Amino acid sequence: MTDRITKNTARNIYFGGSLFAILVFAGLTFDTVQKFPELTNEDKLTHSVARGKNLWEVNNCVGCHTIMGEGAYYAPELANAFDRLGAGDEEAFKSYMQGWMAAQPLDIPNRRKMPQFNLTNDQVNDLASFLIWTSKIDDNEWPPNIEG
Ligand code: HEC
Repeated sequence: MTDRITKNTARNIYFGGSLFAILVFAGLTFDTVQKFPELTNEDKLTHSVARGKNLWEVNNCVGCHTIMGEGAYYAPELANAFDRLGAGDEEAFKSYMQGWMAAQPLDIPNRRKMPQFNLTNDQVNDLASFLIWTSKIDDNEWPPNIEG
């Protein structure tokens, strides 16, 4: 009796182990995808949210900001902007957004500037709806704190 692993055993471990890992990966992926509607509150996905997402894209907000950690690290994370700036009050957040977007660029020395986008009130409301909806996505508590 020898305690060396034969080529056959090694091959079986390699293929068996790989197959097992692939099946676990596929199963977990399937499970996550099934939960998307619940995790993202799909029932609260209004037309305003969709228009806001579109405005987010065409104005390239993500060129400076991150959202759920994705994007550029020039300006604050915005998936938690509603929690940070609206403190759970949707109307308060919408009026904050109107004021914020209208006031850009702020003339404060030594501070990074955000451009003026000349959006209408309705467009800013749509962007606010998008940020409110995004803040409620169950993404395992990311970002870990309320800061930007
Ligand atoms: C050229 C870079 C740039 C782009 C593009 C940009 N921003 Fe900003 N944004 C900034 C900077 C820099 C700040 C921080 C400014 C400050 O604190 O004075 C900021 C701050 C903000 C804040 C306040 C965040 C906080 O925590 O105080 C909001 C809300 C915001 N941006 C929304 C947007 C939206 C919506 C868009 C797209 C329409 C956008 N930004 C595009 C640079 C940008």
